[in-house]
Amino acid sequence: MSSRRSFLEKSILTAAGLMTTSRVSSLPKIPPTTQPSALVISTWNFGIPANKAAMEVLQKGGSALDAVEAGVMIVEADPISTSVGLGGFPDAEGDVTLDASIMNHEGQCGAVACLQHTLHPISVARAVMERTSHVLLVGEKARDFAHDLGFPKTNLLTKTAKTAWKEWKSNNPKWRQYSTDISNHDTIGMLAIDQQGNLSGACTTSGWAFKVPGRVGDSPIIGAGLYVDNEVGAATATGTGEEVIKICGSFLIVELMRQGYSPEEACVEAIRRIKKRNPGKPELFVGFLAINKAGEHGAFATKDGFEYALFQHEENKLFQGRY
Ligand code: GLY
Repeated sequence: MSSRRSFLEKSILTAAGLMTTSRVSSLPKIPPTTQPSALVISTWNFGIPANKAAMEVLQKGGSALDAVEAGVMIVEADPISTSVGLGGFPDAEGDVTLDASIMNHEGQCGAVACLQHTLHPISVARAVMERTSHVLLVGEKARDFAHDLGFPKTNLLTKTAKTAWKEWKSNNPKWRQYSTDISNHDTIGMLAIDQQGNLSGACTTSGWAFKVPGRVGDSPIIGAGLYVDNEVGAATATGTGEEVIKICGSFLIVELMRQGYSPEEACVEAIRRIKKRNPGKPELFVGFLAINKAGEHGAFATKDGFEYALFQHEENKLFQGRY
């Protein structure tokens, strides 16, 4: 281990008091290769089927961009997930509003925020990237854009989500913010490396359950919920988006990797900054995933319970994120 790396571990982990160095020394060391094998990593246990769909694209020689779009679409269309796409919990007025972003190896990106009635916001985000000169479209006009491109109008409010919203509403005065926790806040963020060694990422969510109408989280904000730099690496986030936005979380992690941090060290430092800004909030949840150009990955969260799925070397497995 280089003295620089050793210094970073000491300064980040020991001085910050977030965790012991023994946890870090037990991290799996993946030897960097000149050309990493195809890799897909994504947040939470729904990352397993999402990774599978993404890896099918990569194994056929498809691009990382096509892979991450195909991967997260699985979760967007799954009514069981209550925080992404169809079945996502609505805002305080009962409207399901979606945020999504996508970024490719050329640094091109697109996003949508507060988008309604659209099953695949990630594909609309990609259309913003590929068919306009803009990065972010929001609200009704984003829906008009999707409509013009032929994305069908879809009712995203499932019976389960409507029942949960009605129960919440009966117990909460208008505008009272529902406290976030892991059970209602599990965005899918996905990062991939293709057979050409190019990186891309995607991030999609229905956001904070029962949020103030109009609220937008980190997921569609390039540099917050998602960032890709093909020379360095990529990062994505899940959890309380407001805190991710405040530290430009994904951009920060990529820049730390550029300075020599490993993906895990960079995630640890981003979480350290969030925790420092939020003393006395043990319930606050944010989790980050990162990969570097060598195919190494890292994950770290503010608290326990964070899971992520990694598909690499023919295996698609669920891991517990460190905290
Ligand atoms: N991380 C997703 C959100 O806060 O909306």
